[in-house]
Amino acid sequence: MSDSPNTDFILFGGTGDLARRKLLPALMRLHAQGLLGPRTRIFAVAHSPGDDASYRQRLAQALQQAGQLSSDWDGFAKRLHYVSLDAHQPADFAALASRMSSGHARVFYLSTGPSLFAAICKGLSAHDLIRPDSRIAVEKPLGHDLASSRQINDEIGRYFQENQIYRVDHYLGKESVQNLLALRFGNVLLEPLWRREWVRDVQITVAEQEGIGTRGGFYDNTGALRDMVQSHLLQLLAILAMEPPPSTQADAVRNEKLKVLDALEPLRGPDALTHTVRGQYLGGADRPAYRDETGVDAASTIETYVALTARINTWRWAGVPFFLRTGKRLNQRLAEIVVTFRDVPTSIFDTPAAGLQANRLVIRMQPQETMTLHLMAKSPGDGMRLHPVALSLDYAKSSRHRQPDAYERLIGDILQGKLTLFVRRDEQEAAWRWVEPILQAWTQIGQPAHPYASGSWGPAAAEAMLARHGLYWHTGLDTDTLTTT
Ligand code: BG6
Repeated sequence: MSDSPNTDFILFGGTGDLARRKLLPALMRLHAQGLLGPRTRIFAVAHSPGDDASYRQRLAQALQQAGQLSSDWDGFAKRLHYVSLDAHQPADFAALASRMSSGHARVFYLSTGPSLFAAICKGLSAHDLIRPDSRIAVEKPLGHDLASSRQINDEIGRYFQENQIYRVDHYLGKESVQNLLALRFGNVLLEPLWRREWVRDVQITVAEQEGIGTRGGFYDNTGALRDMVQSHLLQLLAILAMEPPPSTQADAVRNEKLKVLDALEPLRGPDALTHTVRGQYLGGADRPAYRDETGVDAASTIETYVALTARINTWRWAGVPFFLRTGKRLNQRLAEIVVTFRDVPTSIFDTPAAGLQANRLVIRMQPQETMTLHLMAKSPGDGMRLHPVALSLDYAKSSRHRQPDAYERLIGDILQGKLTLFVRRDEQEAAWRWVEPILQAWTQIGQPAHPYASGSWGPAAAEAMLARHGLYWHTGLDTDTLTTT
């Protein structure tokens, strides 16, 4: 039974790609599980003319093609409505206002470019659509730099209080990211080890096989540092490195994440160049090079890959390198965190210390959600030779329950007014504050985007960055092959 109140869910950008691929399927699944209030309605809002019937029909076709149409489509479709509206025409909001129910909670989900946020908020306010219990959800990118992100936050903040604002970072909705909280704070085992004395380095990889697809126009003004690091990777880093919060209440968790982001050692000027690597993908067999993608400048120097070394200046983490990397057209679709513990001080076994691999904890988010602890064990037979073995947990296999998709979880939380998995303004701005000097160094001093082969693991310079620490990147393959049966 749903504990989500009857809500009017107003989805701006209702005909857009994200709405069709992620948001509406997530709402449909919430409906199928009985997790929407019985009279909850969804108003898809977009510029193009249309009505409820044509919108439902087009969406059903799109979902069918994507193999996502649920068996209870008819029930879901009854909740769906369409409102044609030009955000720059305040009068157009009257049509929306006339369809709202005064007894329903209201969620405004802005799946549009941020350039429309101010106009939308203004239109909503002009028609008294915003009430103290209304919520607004906004999708990244929230700005291009610190100043533009502040401006967007100010615009929204004119109409909504901070506790009404849900800044979506869909990585926070991933089951494995929440499992990271369970792992760290539901067990005492790791806590004494989760610090500089025992951790040698941390690697966070978010690798994609896909290129930039149809998003050339957006991506060519953005790049991997803004698109992925400023948001998803820094959020992962913050959750991984934060101190235990006193509870899972939104501000308790967000206060701790903020402290990590504030403690990141700034990378400025030449330091920013030494500790970062940029790359751009080349073409493959039948795949275009980045510069040949639609909407991309043929001489573009934007990065489709970034690797960097971050440091957190706290008592827990000082001196531990956090290596972050993300890129498109890489070898595998892989998102994982690898925490490598220190080497044993000396070997008492037949295997010399150099042959003993440091223990590693691998938390994989994509393609499967797994957690693997790599240990050393005795090789069978005479003597005391050791070899690596792996203790593995596959979350999907270990649970009888279906793993909800990130957007399903996040929209469910918005409907229930739970803010924990959403980014607070100060966190978002702290992330920009850290990223901005890197961007400045890249443009002012210059940092080349190394070409890398499509299907590779990115530019050699990223390997060299780790080699300077005597380390190498652990790839999904590498962590898999350690598993013994
Ligand atoms: C988005 C980025 O936020 O995350 C995309 O804008 C990226 O460029 C996507 O492809 C990755 O999300 P996921 O969940 O597929 O790893």
